[in-house]
Amino acid sequence: MSDGTPNWFDADIDHVIVSEEQIRSKIEELAKQVSADYGHVEEVLLVGVLKGAVMFMADFARALGRYGPPAEMEFMAVSSYGQGTTSSGVVRILKDLDRDIANRHVVVIEDIVDSGLTLSWLMKYLESRDPASLEVVALLRKPDAVKVHVPVKYVGFDIPNEFVVGYGLDYAERYREMPYVGVLKPEVYSR
Ligand code: IMP
Repeated sequence: MSDGTPNWFDADIDHVIVSEEQIRSKIEELAKQVSADYGHVEEVLLVGVLKGAVMFMADFARALGRYGPPAEMEFMAVSSYGQGTTSSGVVRILKDLDRDIANRHVVVIEDIVDSGLTLSWLMKYLESRDPASLEVVALLRKPDAVKVHVPVKYVGFDIPNEFVVGYGLDYAERYREMPYVGVLKPEVYSR
């Protein structure tokens, strides 16, 4: 978990799924892969999906900066209708892109692909805007994601089918600031 400095969240975590160190080295690996694959392009446009991808976007962009190509950043905010810990697949745009993505090499930065419903909707939406290319980098992927055919080219970790928090992912808007990804203790849900 954390380095020994007391914090408010470690006590709520039942078990760690991906440690801070694992995240760090995986991001380095993903950034190297992406920079190799995009070596021929002038620049890429990273599209982060708020709020969950904010940590991943920040760390991934910095890692990519070490290898290139130059990256620009855009953010979208979407919300899938429904509350709690499952996705409904009905997506609402809370914040749209600020700029045209036509003829740009777009790389979507996603925190997690669970049912894949949000991402498959987002891909159709972005594709309709005629990017030069469109790929996805997802830090985490759950087993159900294979049911919906969303081509996620770059995946950090395949994780078990449990609800996870940390590194951008929340439960009721909390735990996003945790530097690692973990599963909450059952009693947290009954508070
Ligand atoms: P999907 O549409 O089921 O693939 O999930 C879409 C969104 O639900 C993700 O981008 C996350 O924001 C959220 N989500 C899915 N699984 C988890 C989880 O285990 N913890 C926190 N948020 C999750």
